[in-house]
Amino acid sequence: MVVHGAQWGDEGKGKIVDLLTEKAALIVRFHGGNNAGHTLVVNGEKTILHLIPSGILHGGKRCAIGAGVVLDPQVFLAEVDQLAAKGVDMSPARLAVSLRTHVIMPYHRLLDAAREEAKAGGKIGTTGRGIGPCYEDKASRVGVRAGDFLDEALLTAKIRHALAEKNALLTDLYGLAPLSVDQVLKELLPLGRRVAAYLADVPGLIGQAKADGANILFEGAQGTHLDIDHGTYPFVTSSCCLAGNAASGSGCSIRDIHEVVSVVKAYTTRVGSGPFPTELTCAAGEHLQRTGAEFGATTGRKRRCGWLDMALVREAVRLNGTTGLAITKLDVLGGLPELKICTAYRYEESDILYPPQREGALGAVTPVYETMPGWREDISSCRSFDALPEAAKRYLNRVEELAGAPIAIISVGPGREETLCKKNS
Ligand code: GDP
Ligand code: IMO
Ligand code: MG
Repeated sequence: MVVHGAQWGDEGKGKIVDLLTEKAALIVRFHGGNNAGHTLVVNGEKTILHLIPSGILHGGKRCAIGAGVVLDPQVFLAEVDQLAAKGVDMSPARLAVSLRTHVIMPYHRLLDAAREEAKAGGKIGTTGRGIGPCYEDKASRVGVRAGDFLDEALLTAKIRHALAEKNALLTDLYGLAPLSVDQVLKELLPLGRRVAAYLADVPGLIGQAKADGANILFEGAQGTHLDIDHGTYPFVTSSCCLAGNAASGSGCSIRDIHEVVSVVKAYTTRVGSGPFPTELTCAAGEHLQRTGAEFGATTGRKRRCGWLDMALVREAVRLNGTTGLAITKLDVLGGLPELKICTAYRYEESDILYPPQREGALGAVTPVYETMPGWREDISSCRSFDALPEAAKRYLNRVEELAGAPIAIISVGPGREETLCKKNS
């Protein structure tokens, strides 16, 4: 099963993965890096994970980081230490890193920040974690991979080769100080020695789990519309965020994926730059931002908020092959007198159901809205579809209809237990 985001990230994937881990034996992250921030609330205690799969809080389950991920060793080890300090078993028997996972290097972080700084008006608003520059090196076939921590000579040669080019960029183009091979090695080697203990053959682990008849959960990061190919380019991340990448990003076949859970926030948010047709700058937007506590889990930036955009969700269903929707943060809509859903876009004098394909065109659409009544009740204690107020049921039914996919899970609060597992209709 794949759990992925259907919007621009922060849909609540972490909560849903934690919830569904109960049914799985192995949980695998397949793309992205510590640009992700996945929040879990278990027994009232909050944990934010950036790299380690959101299944880690369930004792006895195994977690893995696939080849499609980019791994910052410092962030990875800090996360390992934080979880261990909370009493979570972080032994290599529970957590594996693919030998083929690319490593985010100090020069990747510097270049990410310097490039954003240099873009006066057209900033992407990246998380500054070096994600883009690391994927660039992967595509250019000069990347350092986690398995290189086992071979110091290879690692040194790769760093020397990379620095010849990176230092030219850092000094000549961005006016920064150059890095020396020794400096980079000094930072990296102690980290590498610790990461080495977690290295494993992730495709092999997946194959074994399959042979044992166990369920595997693939955890997506970011969201469909941040996808490098099908997102709102250039305001996207650098990896493929679609369910289809769960197979190649972790190392199995597309035939091993049977279910696709698309996580949809009951409204829309976006962090960073880029078009956002249903963005609200009025009181309703403030309600969503405040009530939903919409601050980035990674950078702490205020998230932009707006009405639910079903053209984006429809596209996500088409691109990912959704078998079930998980609707999150429904409770946040409570108290708004009326709710709007964007059902289509007005674009070049016609109504369209999917985002236009041309670059920048999403900035030129006008949302077509349907208005629905809101509800005043606090729904966070509801545990069945029937217990929800009529207006909430109507909203969900309409979402299901417009998405063309069934709702499997409804979330009414951040806690693991604040969840209705199936809509009984
Ligand atoms: P992710 O990146 O998709 O895992 O999502 P984030 O963790 O970045 O952001 C989702 C935020 O919403 C987190 O703070 C969650 O604790 C919170 N959250 C998740 N589901 C719900 C819900 O149903 N209701 C409320 N009020 N908060 C939720
Ligand atoms: P999760 O997994 C929301 C956004 C950044 C920026 C763009 C490119 O928590 O949903 P990058 O650092 O990836 O090069 O930044 O992508 N972005 C996210 N927005 N949630 C995320 O992850 C994101 N990861 C990246 O804000 O606009
Ligand atoms: Mg997040």
